[in-house]
Amino acid sequence: MAKQNLPGPKAKALIERDHKVISPSYPRGYPFVMDHGKGSEVWDVDGNRFLDFMGGIAVVSTGYSHPKVVKAIQEQAEKFIHISSDFYHENWIKLAEKLDEIAPFKEDALSFMTNSGTEAVETAIKLARYHTKRTNFIGFTGAFHGRTMGAVTFTASKAKYHGGFYPLMNGVTHAPFPNPYRPILERRKGEDYGETTVRYIEEEILNQVLPPKDVAGILVETIQGEGGYIVPPDGFYPALRKLCDKHGILLIVDEVQCGMGRTGKWWAIEHFGVEPDMLTSAKGIASGMPLGACIARKSVMDWEIGTHGNTYGGNPISCAASLATIDLIEKEYLKNAAEVGAYAMDALEEIQARHPSIGQVRGKGLMIGVEFVKNRETKVPAKELTDRVVELGFERGLLMLSCGKSVIRIAPPLSMSKSEMDEGLRLFEEALTAAEKDVK
Ligand SMILES: Cc1ncc(COP(=O)(O)O)c(C=O)c1O
Repeated sequence: MAKQNLPGPKAKALIERDHKVISPSYPRGYPFVMDHGKGSEVWDVDGNRFLDFMGGIAVVSTGYSHPKVVKAIQEQAEKFIHISSDFYHENWIKLAEKLDEIAPFKEDALSFMTNSGTEAVETAIKLARYHTKRTNFIGFTGAFHGRTMGAVTFTASKAKYHGGFYPLMNGVTHAPFPNPYRPILERRKGEDYGETTVRYIEEEILNQVLPPKDVAGILVETIQGEGGYIVPPDGFYPALRKLCDKHGILLIVDEVQCGMGRTGKWWAIEHFGVEPDMLTSAKGIASGMPLGACIARKSVMDWEIGTHGNTYGGNPISCAASLATIDLIEKEYLKNAAEVGAYAMDALEEIQARHPSIGQVRGKGLMIGVEFVKNRETKVPAKELTDRVVELGFERGLLMLSCGKSVIRIAPPLSMSKSEMDEGLRLFEEALTAAEKDVK
């Protein structure tokens, strides 16, 4: 594809206006100014077409403006846009019934609907304290859980997220997330690295720093997103579940990014054969309408009337969009995510064989991370190269986002076809080949 001269004049003018009036804190990737999208394709305001490998940060699960989602939104908007969570409406109830049906535990599930991922995490934190009557938590390095005060305390993927905002929430201790590509703890014979991490939590944290009787919950992204698309070893969750059971600690999985079908199963935790006590969801749950949920075992969500609430919880349009989204995922895209994801993994492994700058390709379904290194032996992260690949991909008509220190995340709409995946991977390799020449 010919190199596009970006940003074009209309995009440039809008970006100038944006910079005058919008908070400078937003971490903008590159100068893409959206005009419209369809499926896995998007067009900018100057008429340039792009294929999308990032799905609005893993949000647009059914593709841009899927006709069934649009119809559900339109129909609901004509009936009523808002009523408030002080009252009832059917789509909210239907959505909670569906979440109960697909929740990754046998016990009945109750859901608290939120407006975002961070609010779902905030809800889980509060509920864990309320239910257990304990105050403390364990989180993980590299994690991203959001930016409100409680969630951001757990977030540990960049020091910048904490700098200037202290004091944060009290009572959060971080353990190292088990990254099998970059282990930092010493593995004992017979253990997998996930089990090593759980042994560290028990021996070094619970025995020496933080008494388990004070720990309400362990909050963990089932597959780390922003931290680098890291899949923990198979032994991690079974061992963590056992530890939680031993001490009456709640296991809370944050599936805001890795859940809702992205990995080819409803929830990433299902790949590990473990049932959590609570789960947070958002992003892909409503194809881009603002919605999140804290889904908990019925016996855990035992707070009294009035203890927690919100104005927009169960927003009628978001619930309608979510029901249409879940229906599409169930009927078509769960299977597609598993198939196209496996297809992409194979193709990426072939690309890796041609490019020594790729240290590792990993992931499940359509949640794939490609990690770049300066040298496969030393594994020094190749950050500059990663940024250049993203930049050159954009110029060639491919939207990508990085994560971790030197990882490109591939998180397209779950509806992406194999031929679109082929096109995207061809652009990706072209960008990588050019970037390897630019960055030595
Ligand atoms: C795993 C995870 N949890 C929570 C959040 C926060 O979600 P939101 O940005 O909707 O507040 C994110 C956002 O990227 C996330 O990836």
